[in-house]
Amino acid sequence: MVAKKLVASISLALSLVGVVSGSTVDSSKIVTWDKYSLKINGERLFTFSGEFHYYRLPSPDLWADIFEKFKALNFNTASIYFYWGYHSPKQGVYDFEGVRDISKFLETAKKYGINIISRAGPYINAEVSEGGFPGWLTTINGTARTSNPSYDEAWKEWLTAVDKHLVPNQIGNGGPIILNQLENEYAVGLDPSYMVALADKYKKDGMDVPTTFNDPWTGGHWATGEGAVDIYGWDSYPVLFDCSHPDVWPSNVSTYFRDFRDSTNPTEPMALYEFQGGAIDGWGGAGFEKCRELTNERFAKIFYKNNYAQGATIQSLYMGYGGTSWGEIPTTAVYTSYDYGSPITEAGLMTPKAYEIKLQGAFLRDVKPFVSTTNTTAEVDNDAIRVDGIKDISSDTTFYIVQHAFSNTTNVDKFHVTVDTNDGKFAVPRKSGTAITLNGRDAKIITASYDFGSQHLLYATSDIFTHTQQDARDVLLVYAYEGEDGEVAITSSANKVQAYGTSAGVSSTLNKNVLQINYKYPHGSAFISATGKNGKELLLIVSGYDTAVKWWAPQTSKGETVLISGPYLVRSAEINGKRLALTGDTDATTNLEIVVSSAVKQVTWNGVNVSVKSTKYGTLTGKVSGPNKNIKLPDLTKSTWKYSPASPETTNDFDDSKWVAADHKTTTNPFPPTSLPVLYSDDYGYHTGSLWFRGKFKSSSDISGIKVNATMGYGSAWVAWLNGKYLGGETDIVKDFSIKQSDLEKSGDNVLSLLMWTTGHEEDWNVNDQYKTPRGFTEVSLTGSKKTPISWKVQGNLGGENIVDTVRGALNEGGLYGERMGWHLPGYPDQNWKKVSLPDTKRSGVSWYRTTFDLNIPKNHDVPLGIRFKESSSTERLRALLFINGWQFGKFANDLGPQTLFYVPEGILNHHGENTIAIGVVAVDEEVTLGEVTIEPYAKLLSGKPTVGVVNSPTYASRKSSH
Ligand SMILES: *[C@@H]1O[C@H](CO)[C@@H](O)[C@H](O)[C@H]1NC(C)=O
Ligand SMILES: *[C@@H]1O[C@H](CO)[C@@H](O)[C@H](O)[C@H]1NC(C)=O
Ligand SMILES: *[C@@H]1O[C@H](CO)[C@@H](O)[C@H](O)[C@H]1NC(C)=O
Ligand SMILES: *[C@@H]1O[C@H](CO)[C@@H](O)[C@H](O)[C@H]1NC(C)=O
Repeated sequence: MVAKKLVASISLALSLVGVVSGSTVDSSKIVTWDKYSLKINGERLFTFSGEFHYYRLPSPDLWADIFEKFKALNFNTASIYFYWGYHSPKQGVYDFEGVRDISKFLETAKKYGINIISRAGPYINAEVSEGGFPGWLTTINGTARTSNPSYDEAWKEWLTAVDKHLVPNQIGNGGPIILNQLENEYAVGLDPSYMVALADKYKKDGMDVPTTFNDPWTGGHWATGEGAVDIYGWDSYPVLFDCSHPDVWPSNVSTYFRDFRDSTNPTEPMALYEFQGGAIDGWGGAGFEKCRELTNERFAKIFYKNNYAQGATIQSLYMGYGGTSWGEIPTTAVYTSYDYGSPITEAGLMTPKAYEIKLQGAFLRDVKPFVSTTNTTAEVDNDAIRVDGIKDISSDTTFYIVQHAFSNTTNVDKFHVTVDTNDGKFAVPRKSGTAITLNGRDAKIITASYDFGSQHLLYATSDIFTHTQQDARDVLLVYAYEGEDGEVAITSSANKVQAYGTSAGVSSTLNKNVLQINYKYPHGSAFISATGKNGKELLLIVSGYDTAVKWWAPQTSKGETVLISGPYLVRSAEINGKRLALTGDTDATTNLEIVVSSAVKQVTWNGVNVSVKSTKYGTLTGKVSGPNKNIKLPDLTKSTWKYSPASPETTNDFDDSKWVAADHKTTTNPFPPTSLPVLYSDDYGYHTGSLWFRGKFKSSSDISGIKVNATMGYGSAWVAWLNGKYLGGETDIVKDFSIKQSDLEKSGDNVLSLLMWTTGHEEDWNVNDQYKTPRGFTEVSLTGSKKTPISWKVQGNLGGENIVDTVRGALNEGGLYGERMGWHLPGYPDQNWKKVSLPDTKRSGVSWYRTTFDLNIPKNHDVPLGIRFKESSSTERLRALLFINGWQFGKFANDLGPQTLFYVPEGILNHHGENTIAIGVVAVDEEVTLGEVTIEPYAKLLSGKPTVGVVNSPTYASRKSSH
């Protein structure tokens, strides 16, 4: 303990030096490693991390909420992708303000004690458009992720910009960044000089934390040789992504990770930079609740504990919090929600997996020998069970990780494990007629020979949540499923064992200074007190799993651990003299039980006094209130909506004289067109959202049709009109329309109008410039008359790369008429629009709908909200964009699904005032009906969350005056 405190104060001194003098401390001196683990200032750290993307939560005050939840779940680290395209609308232009303020994000992480694994790419993948590249990169002449000079110039520009924010936030400068990843899953098309150039550039800019790389599989890329990083690691998604079959898991049992590490990078800690924390889902998929089922809390028990059994001490869950791929963030395959089936839901809510992670995280935080182990022999008396032994390198502490030999079985098995203790080697549990139980899809960590506080644990046959020392008392909390046998043995002279709380059939024996306690895991918690002749008390808390998940173990700023049972969420604990101040959230009236130093006599919960009583066994009990469940939300089905038709581009007299001429005869795009001119929007500076192409041609007696070959991503759609008449709407790429001579204008121009509703660009996983796959058309030709020229104009988002809304940024708007006119913005004067109610009648072309609503969420409540599109009765296909207060928070495709409920974070939504909703609907089929739209709560919580301000963003008036 003393040594630890000393190290902590040295680290504080070091960071103070960095801040005070303005000079930097070399981070590589602070973050070191050996084959067992990372060390921060010499102290070993089990790096227990979750992925979190600031750009998927554009409400900066909620960053604190998520980091606080990370801390509450005992994550000590977050892994963060920094997204180039989110910051750069145009070559040479970078924005790190407002929702893009990554310095604020990193400072928030620091405030909550979360370390950062920085992953600034330049390529990140991440299911974002272009895998993180900016739109403008699609037009460079050269292959990305190679040493090509155009690419080289481009990525250096990005690193120069982002490093200005990363470098000062490294640990040596008092910030949270402890590791720096180069590239991302770069395992094909390998170009070592590119990796070397990345390392050199980061170094030149001042990044001096150790470098890392996440191999997409155990491939050994960049582990050794030219371009090798400091701490190599890999990604693993063992149950893959078939969320429609959530029960199907492969069997897990193997030492493949350890064997691979020992042969590939034997001097580095085993690092799983992305380990499955959920699963991705795409257009038409099963939905994220199914993904959460696939990767549920039992998945977390088996697969994470299996990693630990093999010696992993860096494990980052992808995702810890998924968030929302709002606007044009998502790559083509995926929809708006990026919930990912994560431990923390898109709406910021707890899940059974979050609670399981909290249990594991406290163990990893508090049971220190677990971070530096080697494999050791282990025995079990049941062939259906696999046991892996791991032993601390500097003490006798040994851990036995038990799981089924076929880890996806649903069989229940009973067995005994041989443990190595300083009282000898023997099979446990020792009480006759009892056994360790493993339910199907469960895994346990059994601990033996472990000193904690003033106690020596010989063994515990079930998992430890945590232990802590309070006054002269040691507290140990163990858990397992209800009804299972438990046995804990300590060195003790206690001959009197007293059980309190829920009855658990406790019995004990004292034999030659070994106190053995037996019990059955109760529905609740039993408190077992044993005081030895030396006066030292052990309070053993045994909790059934359903109760254990509601135990919290926050640490105060002075490092004291407080145990609290009951609440939905405990965010923080501080002790000030007699007073314990807790913050957290409740979903109902909740009984609290608190295990804390006897000096504490008063308790507050979110600043409100809780009346507490002391129990006979030295805990405090009390009650905290739940939320108001009768919070009124507006009923949008009763609202008056304003409607306007919104596709004047389809008519022949529409004025497109200010549009850009699409007249290029060449392109650097690696996917060349079949007909000219080039009809690729990116070549004309339009990289996001909906696109219009208008082609004009003179009639000719041999024209019999129009052939269109589109190039777009999955989930996209396009619609064609000739001379104002609907020709068709397609979700397929190729269409031959037949044209009658009577459809053509005899004099003047024929106008072919093409609207494309796009779903972002592809990624670049294979290093083949897939991200440049054009948006537009590879061919538009007149059948029977290929020689008749068509002259083209193109339109996309207002301003193209010179975006007009720098607050919401380059990924908020596309080229629908309503977007270009600012109809999505608050304050647009829609008073002359037609009044309608939803469901509306059938409409063709593009339609816009607007209404406003007030929210008045009561103080101290957290009521995350979403907007639901109710299925309309029509089976016609439509594509819609949902704007809330000007921010695009949903892409809805009624024929694809699965998403119909769109989360909108507080800060984008004003929870205490007026909100504007605008919906742009593209009829893919000739006529479509927009169904009802409703507001739904994800939960109602009484909450201690940080105050959330509304993100300041332009209204229609401010947009107009700037133009
Ligand atoms: C693109 O690069 C290639 C090879 O480096 C070169 O031959 C070509 O002329 C370049 N094209 C343009 C438009 O600059
Ligand atoms: C269990 O794993 C085995 C081996 O990987 C596989 O064949 C089987 O389908 C899995 N069963 C379930 C229910 O996941
Ligand atoms: C540890 O693991 C290695 C590699 O799997 C194996 O060769 C060795 O026998 C193991 N040692 C013990 C003590 O089990
Ligand atoms: C459509 O364009 C793609 C890409 O250029 C091409 O591979 C495909 O053959 C074309 N299809 C038709 C029917 O022309």
